[in-house]
Amino acid sequence: MRQDTSFKEVMLLLLSCLVSIAFANVEKTIFVAPKASEAIQDASIDNLLLTSLHPNQLTVRTFLNASFPTTNAPHGQETWALLDGLQQDQRYELRVCWLATQPTAFWIDTFEMQEVFQTPELLSSVSAYSYARRGELTDAEVSALVENKYKPSSDQLQSNFLFVRIQAAADYFSLNKTLMETVPPVHVDLILDPYLMNVLPQSLVPTAGYISAIAIFAFFLSGWIYRRMIGYVDDEYDQKPGVEGKKDM
Ligand SMILES: *[C@@H]1O[C@H](CO)[C@@H](O)[C@H](O)[C@H]1NC(C)=O
Repeated sequence: MRQDTSFKEVMLLLLSCLVSIAFANVEKTIFVAPKASEAIQDASIDNLLLTSLHPNQLTVRTFLNASFPTTNAPHGQETWALLDGLQQDQRYELRVCWLATQPTAFWIDTFEMQEVFQTPELLSSVSAYSYARRGELTDAEVSALVENKYKPSSDQLQSNFLFVRIQAAADYFSLNKTLMETVPPVHVDLILDPYLMNVLPQSLVPTAGYISAIAIFAFFLSGWIYRRMIGYVDDEYDQKPGVEGKKDM
């Protein structure tokens, strides 16, 4: 499932590079997971009802609210999520992929828990988001959230998570009045991608392997073609009597 999604995404990326009309857009942030802290016992974080991405759920397909930028909210609407079960000092990439048919500008920021709880603007933003979400989610969606949250193994006393804030501002102009008044929610894939040895996003490993295989094959093939051509030229050389004479001099 995950492999499929990343493969599709890579293909879309390749296609959007090849074709002048882009099919999908990507916005990303790269971060290194901070030091793990004592696991939080109470359910205050769970009660925020945030979508979470973690090692057992690296991809989430969802809708994000967006709005046109205003002076009060220059980056549009905010969405909060959790990145859970992170490995200390491991490098990760978080990507937001959306269709080019819904032009949107995204800003992605990650915050440690202390930072959120000690910064009044961030805290009120999380609270407001969580409060609004509580009213929107159905019971089934709430149970799905609880079901899909990260469950650390029983011997794991440390927890390592980050808050992530995604801001989405509509980035289009339309003659359609409805579209200019209400921005439809943006259909996105949120993808958490751990880096292999902190160098290469894991989802790119198959592509990198494929490109390396082609490069190695091309290296030997070009050597073979070169030798064949040199051999051909030598044969031609040997067969020409005039040239033969010169060779003797
Ligand atoms: C305007 O956009 C809305 C939402 O996409 C659509 O339902 C409606 O048909 C559009 N109206 C016109 C006149 O194209």
